[in-house]
Amino acid sequence: MTKTRVEFRSDNCGRAAPELIEALVAANTDTELGYGGDALTATLQSRFSDLFEASVQVFPVPTGTAANALALAAAATPFGAVYCSPEAHIHTSECNAAGFFGGGTKLVPIEGPHGKVNPEALELAITTAGKGLTHKSQPAAVNLVQATDRGAVYSLDEIAAVSQVAHAHGLTVHMDGARFANAIARLGCTPAQASWRAGVDVLSFGVTKNGGLLTDAIVVFAPESATDIGFHLRRAGAVWSKMRFASAQIMAYVADDLWLRLARQANAAATRIAGQIESVAGVTIIAPVQANELFVEMSAATLAGLEQDGVLFYRRGPRLARFVCRWDTSEDDVAALVGSIVRHTAAS
Ligand SMILES: Cc1ncc(COP(=O)(O)O)c(C=O)c1O
Repeated sequence: MTKTRVEFRSDNCGRAAPELIEALVAANTDTELGYGGDALTATLQSRFSDLFEASVQVFPVPTGTAANALALAAAATPFGAVYCSPEAHIHTSECNAAGFFGGGTKLVPIEGPHGKVNPEALELAITTAGKGLTHKSQPAAVNLVQATDRGAVYSLDEIAAVSQVAHAHGLTVHMDGARFANAIARLGCTPAQASWRAGVDVLSFGVTKNGGLLTDAIVVFAPESATDIGFHLRRAGAVWSKMRFASAQIMAYVADDLWLRLARQANAAATRIAGQIESVAGVTIIAPVQANELFVEMSAATLAGLEQDGVLFYRRGPRLARFVCRWDTSEDDVAALVGSIVRHTAAS
């Protein structure tokens, strides 16, 4: 190994894209109204309406957790149930922010492959939920994570199938798009096709993980699904007072397809790694590598060997590793990870 530190822990560990830093500097002139009353935030609304080919509302927020929890709080009643994959970030990793900001909203896990929600399982869960019974949480929304927490990507038909079930029962469809760019880059479709045209009502639009800095956003396609969202955001302290700097980051992120170029780089690194390790004896890739993450089973000795080599990653089980590629993952990073895996599997 030539390097002592090979970073595959998270896309949060990467640098911010220089274009976003430059946009912050460029926005640092003159005076502007706070709380979104500025010119850049107004431009952001029309820019996103163009991007999504529909009239949308955009709310820049500090984190993906804020985007998810507050979008769902606006969509669900405090006695509502939100259906999601057992792997979903809102279920595993957000300290039940959705329940907290929702005032008691309950998360109900629905099985499905590779972090997806299975539409038949969703249908069964809703129809047996006890709609109208005061003893039961009332079906309110479904959460799809795109790309999923296992690195897979919902096809447009899969999104539409879940949305159809949800809408047939009056539920809101929320998409956690922390890695929406990676999914769009993979699908090669328009943002509209992968969101409202497939039935998504509200989207958590990720920026941070893909070259962003300090801001994600909520995009509302169906205003009736989020009528009070402004109050939820303000009460949670999730409205930037100097909003123009948040909006400047997001404007730069989508300018000239930067967001898709960055996502393609991250996805390509993951695809290269998968291609080079999939036939290595002792290595099993447990979920389709369709975005920028790999979930790989190896022996405990191999995992320990990687750590000794300075490869940084998270263990997701005694034999399971998660490797996350970033827009700035280098060829050297890829070669170092693959080399370490090949060497240690051969030795164990
Ligand atoms: C799928 C998914 N959704 C949401 C988030 C939340 O983002 P944040 O850590 O900015 O709150 C993450 C972060 O890891 C994520 O992986």
